[in-house]
Amino acid sequence: MTPLKITHFEKKYGKFVAVDDVSFAIKPGEVFGFLGPNGAGKTTIISSIVTLQAPTKGSIEVFGIDVRKNPDLAKSFIGFVPQELIHYGFFSVEEILKFHANYYGMKVDKDHLRYLLEKLHLWHHRKKLVNQLSGGMKRRLLIVKALIHQPKILLLDEPTAGVDSELRASLWDFIQELKENAMSILLTTHYLEEAERLCDRIGILNHGRLQRVDSTEKLLKEHSSKKITLILSKPAPPITHPRLIRQSDHDVNFNIPNEMPLNLLFKEAKIPLENIQDITIKVGTLEDVMHNLLNEKA
Ligand SMILES: Nc1ncnc2c1ncn2[C@@H]1O[C@H](COP(=O)(O)OP(=O)(O)OP(=O)(O)O)[C@@H](O)[C@H]1O
Ligand SMILES: [Mg+2]
Repeated sequence: MTPLKITHFEKKYGKFVAVDDVSFAIKPGEVFGFLGPNGAGKTTIISSIVTLQAPTKGSIEVFGIDVRKNPDLAKSFIGFVPQELIHYGFFSVEEILKFHANYYGMKVDKDHLRYLLEKLHLWHHRKKLVNQLSGGMKRRLLIVKALIHQPKILLLDEPTAGVDSELRASLWDFIQELKENAMSILLTTHYLEEAERLCDRIGILNHGRLQRVDSTEKLLKEHSSKKITLILSKPAPPITHPRLIRQSDHDVNFNIPNEMPLNLLFKEAKIPLENIQDITIKVGTLEDVMHNLLNEKA
């Protein structure tokens, strides 16, 4: 059964169309990345899945359940990490989590709670009041809170914003682990390295429109390139090659397909090896993909 299906979603604020006719579905056990510039409409869509907002048109189904017709049942399947940090005043970490589980009519499973708190590096902070946590700890608490009722689909709206680099890497491992345990995940992030590592497929949202949906692999292959810089020990003869970007007496730059081997480039461009002092290679990334697609003429 499809974990999430969004059909002809539209959201208007007055006359302003924030989201325009967006349709996509998430497959079981996949991590779907939802990328796009600030204001593209990502949070508007995610918050409508958990019924914090209502679309002006279209429908949202979670495991076949219409979220507006049957919100409580639909939400019991969803774990949601909002973009905005919520402040819970004077409750402790443990209390918040117990309240949240009770809200779903569950008693907290102590082993599950400990497992989650340890995974998110919060076990030693569990007695602290929420307003005594740092920003990164609050973000991690939101992730534990989203998982406490054992949902089947997880919506992560910028889950690693403000989280330090080491904990971010451990969060990536944790997201992989969730995925291996059949969790379906919708992830938004401005860290494109994060999206590249985690996402099976990516949807690019731009000015409220879903511009492209494809596998991460295909997007990288079609819309990014490998940048090669040859540092010269002495000037090389003029090079003519379709992938040449620039040649000077000191260096030569090429943009080649990610999969093109370097020895082929050297052979085709007829570069004398004795002229080369050093080589730097920058493999194409999702950053290139986003840059190329977002600046593409419609
Ligand atoms: N309550 C509101 N009233 C009016 N306009 C709104 C409201 N909420 C969002 N918008 C507008 O809708 C558009 C989409 O906002 P949204 O928060 O969904 O963007 P986003 O893709 O999540 O951006 P970011 O990457 O900055 O989080 C923006 O132009 C925003 O100003
Ligand atoms: Mg947002």
